[in-house]
Order: sequence, then structure tokens, then C-alpha cells
Amino acid sequence: GEDERTERIEAALDELGDDVVVLGHNYQRREIVEHADFIGDSYQLSKEAAAADADYVVFGGVTFMAESADIITDDDQQVILPSMEASCPMAGMAEALQVDAAWAELTAALDDDEEIVPITYMNSYADLKAFCAEQGGLVCTSSNAHKAFEYAFEHGDKVLFLPDKHLGENTAYRLDMADEIVEWDPWDPESTDAEAAVEHDVILWEGYCQVHERFRESHIEAIRADHPDANVIVHPECRREVVEAADVAGSTADICQAVEAADPGDTWAIGTEIHLTHHLQRWYPEVEVLPLCGDACMDCNAMRQIDPNYLAWVLEELVAGRERNVIEVHPEEKELAQVALDRMLEI
Ligand code: 13P
Ligand code: SF4
Repeated sequence: GEDERTERIEAALDELGDDVVVLGHNYQRREIVEHADFIGDSYQLSKEAAAADADYVVFGGVTFMAESADIITDDDQQVILPSMEASCPMAGMAEALQVDAAWAELTAALDDDEEIVPITYMNSYADLKAFCAEQGGLVCTSSNAHKAFEYAFEHGDKVLFLPDKHLGENTAYRLDMADEIVEWDPWDPESTDAEAAVEHDVILWEGYCQVHERFRESHIEAIRADHPDANVIVHPECRREVVEAADVAGSTADICQAVEAADPGDTWAIGTEIHLTHHLQRWYPEVEVLPLCGDACMDCNAMRQIDPNYLAWVLEELVAGRERNVIEVHPEEKELAQVALDRMLEI
């Protein structure tokens, strides 16, 4: 039962003391975040991990987040992911090999005096971050994508944005570049005409989050009909028309801040993964926090792989001196990916 498991997790954490820090992404279930030393968005969590100086960082999140933590933390800190099945499908939609092939076509189609700069969203694997660094590009998060675009246009003429087409499109709109957008769908040969693509300044890789993509304008209309005073905030991984119909778009950290800053009795409808909405309901009971689309479908299957039984298991194994599910980025990739992350920090 849950009580027994909670006791096991707490006993292991007591035993491990300062040797371990547990991180919980905002989308993890309650039974994980209640054991976390830090709760937050992926980038905040990696920074906490680096600052914490514990030997072991147990990451309640998905693979690309654990990789980022491994890149940012010291070499003597081990990052552990309680389940190796926790892989974000969006990160898997841009494989470095596939991007490399597209890159060769795109750069061959450019005029001699033109440069293209790749930007990858944090939600991508370390080898793609390393690729972007090698090609003069950088990493961004959902809160600084517009600044990454500005950096790219200072250093080149075109952007290849990976892997999330919605974040890319929303950012292009924010920068008044809607007319410059073209999509590159590596699974559809018709859409991969490099000559035609480079006529545009913003080339969007055809990746998306299958959770956020399910939100529709009709969800916002329904909330506004039932709750005319509701403020609607959505994650920028949502479709363009959803972001346009919302009052605000923001990262999971922005969503948390909006509810934290709300006055008692205010209503906020949240368009993101359902676990964060449920946490906000528990953390801020004086605010009326509503899921934008009922309770049922906005659940991230990758995040859900981190079952509390696995958390208990990796911690008990550490107590027994065994390191399970260590996430280790190859040293060369690590160094390059760090360059792409550093460029982000400078913007
Ligand atoms: P944040 O970086 O906003 O926490 O988002 C992570 C994520 O997986 C969004 O789907
Ligand atoms: Fe990936 Fe979407 Fe899940 Fe975030 S919510 S981890 S982007 S699938």
C-alpha cells in the first residue's frame, strides 16, 4: 500500500542523508513530488542539482531532463532516473542522425552568403544539443525561445527550430515573423524540398508534444462560458490558435508563478499536463484552479513511468551500495552540449 511505500522511501532517504537529492518535475505525480527536495521546471531542477552538491541526483522526470542534469552537474555527481522507460516522445521526434541529414540538404540549398542557425528546445537529447553547438546554434527553454531567435538572427539569416513546431511557431508570431514560417517534416518527402524551405527564414521541425497538442480553442470557449472571470494560461507547446485564445502563455514555472500571485477567489484555468494543475489545486486552495480540459486526457505517459515503487527501488539500492539506472552522457557530447547551454545562458 501507499503508506508502506512512503515509509520505505522515507527510511531510505534518512539513511542516505545529504548524499542524495530528489528532484520532482512539475508534471510528476503527488507521490513523487512529496518526496522531492526541489520541485520545478526542467531547467530550474538541473540548476538545483548542480548547486546541491549531493553524490546522487535522483530525477523524477524524463530522460532528456536527467541528461541535462548530468551535463550541468559535476563529474562526481551521478544522475539516476527511477525508470528508463520515461522518455519524452517529443524529444524522440528529432534524432540527431535525421537532423544531420536535413541539415546537409538545407545548407546545400543556401546562397553562398547565407547562414542558418539551429536552435533546439531543452526537450531534446544531448546528441542533438551537441549537434546544435557544433553548427553555431544553441538551446532554449519555453521562456527564452524568443531570445534564442534573436541570437540566431544576430549570427545568421535563418533558423532551424527543433523539435517543437508549436513553440517555434508561437515564438515566430511573438517576433512578428509569421510570414517567414515553413515546416520541415522528415517523414513526408513532399515537405522536405530544401530549395523551397530556404526561401523562408524560420524552418520548423515537425515535432510536437502529444499532451499539449490535444488542447483546442473549444476547451477555452467552454471554460469562458462556464467561468466568465477565468484567466486562461497555457503552455507554449500548445497549438497557435490555443495560445492566441488564451490570456497568457507560459512555461510551467510561469504557470506556477501566475497562480502563486493570484488573489484569493481568483480563477485560473490551466492548459498543461494535468498533474501540475492538481498540485496547484493542493498548494493554493484559496485560488480556484481549473483544468482547461476536464481531468481525463491531459496526462503525460512518459512522466507517468516514474512510479513511486521505482523511486523506492532506486533509493533502497543506493542504500545497499548499488547504483541503478545511471544516466551518463558521453564526455564529448557533454562538452558540446554544455556549449549550447552556455550560449543560452548568455542571451
Ligand atoms: P517546462 O520546461 O516548462 O517545465 O516544460 C517541460 C515539459 O516537458 C513541457 O511539456
Ligand atoms: Fe514530453 Fe509533452 Fe510529456 Fe513534456 S508533457 S515530457 S513535452 S510528452
